[in-house]
Amino acid sequence: MGDARRPIGIFDSGLGGLTVYKALRSLLPAEDLIYFGDTARVPYGTKSPEAVIAFSKEIAAFLLARRIKLLVVACNTASSLALEEIRRVSPVPVLGVIAPGVEAALAAAPRGGRVLVTGTTATVNSRAYSRALEAAGARVRVLEKACPLFVPIVEEGWCGKPVAAAVAREYLGPFRGRGIDALILGCTHYPLLKKVIARVMGPRTRIVDSAQAAAAQARRELERRGLLNPGRAGRSEFVVSDAPERFSLLARRLLGIKTGKVSVKRF
Ligand code: DGL
Repeated sequence: MGDARRPIGIFDSGLGGLTVYKALRSLLPAEDLIYFGDTARVPYGTKSPEAVIAFSKEIAAFLLARRIKLLVVACNTASSLALEEIRRVSPVPVLGVIAPGVEAALAAAPRGGRVLVTGTTATVNSRAYSRALEAAGARVRVLEKACPLFVPIVEEGWCGKPVAAAVAREYLGPFRGRGIDALILGCTHYPLLKKVIARVMGPRTRIVDSAQAAAAQARRELERRGLLNPGRAGRSEFVVSDAPERFSLLARRLLGIKTGKVSVKRF
């Protein structure tokens, strides 16, 4: 099989990474995609760096054995904590969601502006986004806020309910009116709350979806390496570590994705 015809591997702690899958699918319709969701061990956002690194390396090895041409770490927590470790053992390029999110935020925030990073507790504690913004030489002021209740609200299908708006106000209300130019949705689930978050922040703040930004970067990377699949309709395969029916049901309910048969790989 020519390298360009190989699949792209994507993984997440569970189903949230389907926001990245969906962005990839629409931007790269000819690519074969293998999505792995670690539904047995989700959430990663409350776990230690050691655990997240160990899980991520196991999943990367599983996907690499499927002869993928590119690995996309869709999970912000795994991208924050395990990207370097995965890169060290991967013979294929590995993309995370942090760098694309940072790039998109910098396009939205002027020099001297303010960027608010939202994410899981583990992502915020890692300061991965702040460090990436600093490394990019960005002269912006970075604020960070963990919003752990957003994940269960999304998974419950409550994005449009008053509780979602109330929780968003509680977490983010204090940042309104503080000159935030860009807010990074630094967690797989948060793009599903984009409207609610935008309403709390007000019109001044640009909401940066790292899922979209990551998909755009994956396309650029494949183009640059001459690895775009020349075929037409790419296939999608879904693998989880537990509860495939729930995964399938929520994929359809939350994101309108029809997964077909979901297989199980236990570690
Ligand atoms: N996928 C995780 C992330 O993007 C959110 C869910 C979890 O905590 O595992 O950070």
